[in-house]
Amino acid sequence: MTKIGEKSKAMYNEIDLDRIDLNVEPPTEEPARQYYFMAKCREWVRAFEQKNGRRPTASIQTFGCQMNARDSEKLAGILARIGFISQDHEEADLVLYNTCTVRDNANQRVYGRLGYVHSLKKKNPSMLIGLCGCMMQEETVIRKLKESYRFVDLVFGTHNIYKLAELLYARLSGGAPVFDIEKESTRIVETLPVTRQYPYKSGVNIMYGCNNFCSYCIVPYVRGRERSRRPEEILDEIRRLTDDGVVEVMLLGQNVNSYGKTLTEPISFAALLQQVEQIEAVKRIRFMTSHPKDLSDELIETMACSQKICRHLHLPLQSGSSRILTCMNRCYDKEQYLALAEKIRRRIPDISLTTDIIVGFPGETEEDFQETLDVVRRVRYESAFTFLYSKRTGTPAAAMDRQVPKEVAQDRFDRLLSLVQQISRESCCRDTGRVMEALVEGTDSQQEGFVTGRLGNNIMVHFPGPADLVGRIVPVRLLESRGFYYIGRMEEQ
Ligand code: 5AD
Ligand code: SF4
Repeated sequence: MTKIGEKSKAMYNEIDLDRIDLNVEPPTEEPARQYYFMAKCREWVRAFEQKNGRRPTASIQTFGCQMNARDSEKLAGILARIGFISQDHEEADLVLYNTCTVRDNANQRVYGRLGYVHSLKKKNPSMLIGLCGCMMQEETVIRKLKESYRFVDLVFGTHNIYKLAELLYARLSGGAPVFDIEKESTRIVETLPVTRQYPYKSGVNIMYGCNNFCSYCIVPYVRGRERSRRPEEILDEIRRLTDDGVVEVMLLGQNVNSYGKTLTEPISFAALLQQVEQIEAVKRIRFMTSHPKDLSDELIETMACSQKICRHLHLPLQSGSSRILTCMNRCYDKEQYLALAEKIRRRIPDISLTTDIIVGFPGETEEDFQETLDVVRRVRYESAFTFLYSKRTGTPAAAMDRQVPKEVAQDRFDRLLSLVQQISRESCCRDTGRVMEALVEGTDSQQEGFVTGRLGNNIMVHFPGPADLVGRIVPVRLLESRGFYYIGRMEEQ
């Protein structure tokens, strides 16, 4: 659930809704046009409040990755400016699902939720149901929604998240369901309101889309071509975030290593990182995700010399078999990947390496799978996300023959998971006894009087401490490893 926020603070460059003339035609330029429609929707909110004696509530349910989580913060920011109040469950006046479609089970979960909200809407017919995000970029999904889910009010995709107010207003004033899907986008609309989920850390989009076309992946089709934001826009946003209390930023992109290549003034990802590092108030920098084929020596060097870039690199492997990697269109082989991982570990010995692995890709044999296990044993990932291959309509892999039977893929998945967990447990204890800095992210729900912190290498540590430590970076002695996390004690500062 994404919090909408009770009041949203007007950030730098935002437009004051009270000063917008609603008697004229809407502006054509952005973001002015969206502020106009926010003001229009706010009139509706006021009328709702007069009629019902309360403000309307909204619930945003987010599926999928960090990019979607960040998009939901933008949706929440817009709804807060309009005047909606956050609701943590789906019994709300507006329910919005920000969907994911990277694997089919994500789609199935959304259809499941729609069945549930439909029953709520039968009891409360004025309820509004909206769907947005990656799944909406698929034509088959849109067809299915139009045919069998007629109670849905609002549908938009990944390229027009920024248009929420305009589309909502169209629904409120027109009565008919609104479908607005853009096939491709070259536009990046800046300076719209955002409600952050955490006061002390934030994701920052540095680029959108992906150009890699890995053969199993639907992302390039639903998120479009790669577009980088200009460094000045990114640095400005980060400065504003730090003015608002953020100490940790996570730079987000499907393939951050190709950042900046298509800008009119090209810049490397490493150079961007160096500029972010210069911002005094930024204490920690993370990024996600790196494609191994584009990971430069300049980046490794920048990380090694940095005081602020966290000792964590997510480096998706996908498969350890060179043959399968070719079929996946990953543009590296097993040896190149192993050499890269070794180079990184040698230059940055305290780095934590994590990965994504798919099992059951079409044509994967037991020998191919053994190659994957071999890479896992050799790289010794601190942790890994493992996925069963999911056939995505329209991707080249969906048309490949020799799809792996479900039971075979499941058996490989189970074996891979147990190896990954065993290595992860062994590597988690490697820092026991050391003092490391942790960003305190919250109070510990399991143990009274404890707080939970995140180490630079992304491992969690629980230690006794007061709630007002939340948002601070403090030194913690790691006393004991408990498998995937530590128990610690705060040190004198
Ligand atoms: N099936 C299974 N896993 C997939 N991923 C992407 N597409 C698929 C698919 N069709 C995984 C990849 C990627 C992660 C975000 O999701 O491992 O790195
Ligand atoms: Fe998908 Fe490959 Fe792009 Fe990642 S790099 S989003 S796996 S196509």
